[in-house]
Amino acid sequence: MSDSAELKIDGKTYNLPIIEGTENEKAFDIGGLRGETGVITIDPGYKNTGSTKSAITFLDGEKGILRYRGYSIEELAEKSSFLEVAYLLIYGELPTKEEFTQFEYDVRYHTLVHEDIKKILEGFPSNAHPMGVLSSLVTSLTAFYPESLDPNRSSEAVNLSIIRILAKMPTFAAWAYKNEIGHPVNYPDNNLDYCSNFLKMMFALPAAGYEIDPVVSGALDKLLILHADHEQNCSTSTVRIVGSSQASLYASLSAGINALWGPLHGGANSAVINMLENIRKDGGDTRKWMDKAKDKNDPFRLMGFGHRVYKNFDPRARIIKKAADDVLEKLGINDPVLDIAKGLEHVALNDDYFVERKLYPNVDFYSGIIYRALGIPVDMFTVMFALGRLPGWIAQWKEMRGNNEPIGRPRQVYVGENLRPYVDLNKR
Ligand code: MLT
Repeated sequence: MSDSAELKIDGKTYNLPIIEGTENEKAFDIGGLRGETGVITIDPGYKNTGSTKSAITFLDGEKGILRYRGYSIEELAEKSSFLEVAYLLIYGELPTKEEFTQFEYDVRYHTLVHEDIKKILEGFPSNAHPMGVLSSLVTSLTAFYPESLDPNRSSEAVNLSIIRILAKMPTFAAWAYKNEIGHPVNYPDNNLDYCSNFLKMMFALPAAGYEIDPVVSGALDKLLILHADHEQNCSTSTVRIVGSSQASLYASLSAGINALWGPLHGGANSAVINMLENIRKDGGDTRKWMDKAKDKNDPFRLMGFGHRVYKNFDPRARIIKKAADDVLEKLGINDPVLDIAKGLEHVALNDDYFVERKLYPNVDFYSGIIYRALGIPVDMFTVMFALGRLPGWIAQWKEMRGNNEPIGRPRQVYVGENLRPYVDLNKR
C-alpha cells in the first residue's frame, strides 16, 4: 500500500499520509484535513475512525485475536493473575518477582477506605443501582485525596492515585452490594488475595464468616482478566475524552463506569440473564425463542450473541465458556436458567440463520452465567465488568496523559435552521 491516500475535492487533489501500526493496521491521517480542504469526515459511532495510536491492546475482529501488551489473552487467562495483568496493562511489562511482590503489597495496603465513605453510602436508598453507587464512591475519592485532582502532579503522586483506586474498587463494589441488600459492610481482609478479599467482603455474614472456595475465586480472577481491556470501546473512549480535558483520574474513571452502565455495553451481561429468566418463566422453550429472534417482526432481541468488533468469534467467549463449564461442574450447580442458556447456545452454533449472521455466544453471554453460578446478583454483573475493566481504563488514561494528547473535541455537520429573525412573543 502507498504511504498516502489521494482525496479529490472539486478537482483538487489532496494527499493524506497513511500511517501503519506494528500489526499492519493502516489509517490515513486527517489531522490537517479541515485546514487544507474546509471539509471534515463524519462517522457516527466512530466505527471507521481511530481516536488514537495505542500500545496497550491489540485485537483483530476477523481473526478473533486479543492481546494485552503483546501477550495473548489465551496465555494470560491460563497462566497469569488479574493483579499481574493489571500491572502489565498499566506499566507495559510483566513484573519481576520483586516488582509484583511490592505491587501486591501496595494494593493490599490501600484496600481500606475512609470511614466517612460509609456516610456517603448510607445516603443511598437500598434500591440504588450498584453502578450509580460505584461511580459516586469513585468520584468521592477526589474529596478524600484532593491531591488526585491534579493529573499533572509527579509520577509518584499519580501512581499512588492509581494504586489507591485499584485497591479500593473491590471494597466499593462489595459495599455497594451490601447497601443494596441492607447488610452491614465487611472490611477488607489484607491476608487474602484480590479476588478472595472481594468475595469475602461480598458474602461474609456477621458471625458466620465466609469460606473461600478456590474454584470460585479462581473463576472470578479469570473473568476479570478477560474483561481487563478492549482497546477503544465506549467506556474506554469515555475515560480518554474526559481525561483529555485534564479532569482527574477518578473523574475520568467515574465517567467510564457510567458509560459502561448502558445495556449496549457493560449492561449486556445483566440483560442476558434477564432474557434467560424471561424464557424460563415462559416455559423454557429455547427453540420458540430462537425462532422469535429470527422473526424481524418480533420485538424480542437476543442478548449476548455476536459482537460489534469480532466478526467470527469472541476469543474471550471461548475461554469463558470452558470456565463456565468447569465452575458449574465443580460447584455441582443445576440451574434451569443455565440449562436454557445451553439450549440457546446449541441453536446459535448449529442453526444456519445464526451461523451465517455470526450470532455466536459472546463474552457477555457466558460471564452472566458464571456470575450467577458464583452467587453474584444480576444488577452487580456490570459492577463486575467495571472491576475487571479498571486496569484497562487506568492504562488507557495513563497513555493518553503520557502522550500529552489534545482535548477531545469532535466537529459536526450542522443540519438545523438557517439564519432567521427573532419574532416577538405577541406576534407568534
Ligand atoms: C468490551 O469488552 O468493551 C466490549 O466487548 C465492547 C467493545 O469492545 O466494544
